[in-house]
Amino acid sequence: MLLKIPEVLSKEQVQQAKKVLLEADWTDGNVTAGYQSSKTKNNLQLPEGSKASNQLGDMVLAALAQSNLFMSAALPLKIFPPLFNCYQGGGAFGVHVDNAIRQVPGTPVKVRTDISMTLFLSEPDEYEGGELIIEDTYGSQTIKLAAGDMVLYPSTSLHRVTPVTKGRRLASFFWLQSMISSDEKRALLFDMDMAIQSLREKLDDSPEIVQLTGVYHNMIRQWAQT
Ligand code: NI
Repeated sequence: MLLKIPEVLSKEQVQQAKKVLLEADWTDGNVTAGYQSSKTKNNLQLPEGSKASNQLGDMVLAALAQSNLFMSAALPLKIFPPLFNCYQGGGAFGVHVDNAIRQVPGTPVKVRTDISMTLFLSEPDEYEGGELIIEDTYGSQTIKLAAGDMVLYPSTSLHRVTPVTKGRRLASFFWLQSMISSDEKRALLFDMDMAIQSLREKLDDSPEIVQLTGVYHNMIRQWAQT
């Protein structure tokens, strides 16, 4: 399931993030690339574990924790600390699949990447190119969102970033391990949760809604790995 989550960060938070990013020291993006992807990756990244990266990463995670849409769609178990990148001067990232397992630097924690996320920090009119193109079940999706908006998609998808031919594209990207590893099962739970929430607005907590909510949680009980 590919889902856009609008306004994860407010415009003020975006400005704050950009200020930190523009003053930070950057490194070659290939430090986190696997063998195949390193051959096609051409961008800059904030060093993992740097002060700027940690500070902004915490801001992103705190914002996501407030998002019901994100929580419902992702059912996160472990989230890899957000990373930050910059594409400019023709920088691009060719077609690839993200590594299946990520170790959180300096810890024994391993995260299986079930869901990949990109949070846009530059407005679409600040750069040319830089579209995130994701091969979805129903064809290829071109994603270029407003600053502060995020897309999440299954990490099993082939994806790429087209060259940024003008301006600068700043973004945060990261992965998470979901309690529900199957994208299909996660999508079913998400649809059910959305339907229950919308019914609740119309009918309050009728016995049927209580029962459906029970079914939702019992499905998670059947399928969750923690
Ligand atoms: Ni990727």
